[in-house]
Amino acid sequence: MPTGIDLPMPDADALAHSTRVRSHIAEVIRAEGGRIPFARYMELCLYAPGLGYYSAGSRKFGEGGDFVTAPELSSLFSRCLARQCEQILGTLGGGEILEFGAGSGVMAADILTELAARDRLPQRYFILEPSPYLQQVQRDTLRARQAGWFDRVAWLQQMPSPGFRGVVLANEVLDAMPVHRFAWRDGEVLQSFVVEDDGFSEQFDRCEDENLRDAVTRLVKEFPDIESGYVSDMNTMALPWVTALGDCVDAAVVMLIDYGYSRRDYYQAERRRGTLMCHYRHRAHADPFVWPGLQDITAHVDFTTVAEAGLAADMSVAGYTTQALFLIANGLDDMVAQSDPDQVRAHLTLTAEVKKLTLPTEMGDRFKVMALSKAYDAPLTGFGLRDFTDRL
Ligand SMILES: C[S@@+](CC[C@H](N)C(=O)[O-])C[C@H]1O[C@@H](n2cnc3c(N)ncnc32)[C@H](O)[C@@H]1O
Repeated sequence: MPTGIDLPMPDADALAHSTRVRSHIAEVIRAEGGRIPFARYMELCLYAPGLGYYSAGSRKFGEGGDFVTAPELSSLFSRCLARQCEQILGTLGGGEILEFGAGSGVMAADILTELAARDRLPQRYFILEPSPYLQQVQRDTLRARQAGWFDRVAWLQQMPSPGFRGVVLANEVLDAMPVHRFAWRDGEVLQSFVVEDDGFSEQFDRCEDENLRDAVTRLVKEFPDIESGYVSDMNTMALPWVTALGDCVDAAVVMLIDYGYSRRDYYQAERRRGTLMCHYRHRAHADPFVWPGLQDITAHVDFTTVAEAGLAADMSVAGYTTQALFLIANGLDDMVAQSDPDQVRAHLTLTAEVKKLTLPTEMGDRFKVMALSKAYDAPLTGFGLRDFTDRL
């Protein structure tokens, strides 16, 4: 049991799995000279083939898993998103949807169901999911709906070829990308490396990653109140990911939904330990070395940097708002109004879901929605109530 953190004990099979993950990471560390960058450690914990948290077969999402995402919480989320897709596909005169990191597949199923009901199905619904285990879960979820749209769904192994037209969706995908941890100490950028000792631990040493060093150097110039000893995290994979997306879309809107902040809020001087969080059985804590492979490791999203990556990739920022305002602007209120209060149990469930999706203390404010667009100029319904792009 890790010290100082109150977590439920995994069963014997889970612990045996974590031991295999640990041995694999230890082998990599030895093979790579005795230490690996933190981002590499996080990548192995989450995505090592057959072993990592997302690659191996255990329940992750929902009540029986480790955390709940908005589409797992309620179909209302996906139905509102479907309405945004409907507007975009209508304006483009058709097109396709591409969802990154589709989790259990429930968001795809609910979006397709809503679009079918509104007679606006996309030509194809593509899913790009790196985990073969989750691809199978998604297939099972979508097939179980026994709906006419199933043959429109296809799984991609890589980014689509240039020429994509339509909507790109990524809910809680940027937060699942491996991040670097860095420290700013005595005027120098240090990088976190993971070493093997009793288990694993991190050591900060001179930064070897050029992109990270340059980005942190720019950061401390931009925010001079960052003091020596400051530690935070940085997703250096988001930029190449957005660039690659920009290259393959022709006319499209990319909808990114995640918990995160503007760069100013992310790297505020008071947030001296960064945003890295781990989730195990609905407990959140900040120790990434607990039971490798059994817990999710995640970091918030710096939406200012994502927006800049979009601009550099020839896209525009078409909107940035909170999840609550986005959902309400896409018809959440109407959906609630259609619920019959005499169906007491169903109505109470729906009301509880709305609260979780929209209250500032729940997901409403912490989660943001950003749209990047290319060759698409119409105002998007989801940002009709408030657009906070000017705060980025
Ligand atoms: C936190 S889960 C979110 C799942 C789902 N979108 C949801 O909201 O329930 C992160 C998902 O992103 C996937 N993922 C991580 N990096 C990715 C990448 N570069 N491209 C596509 N999917 C990715 C993971 O495998 C996983 O399915």
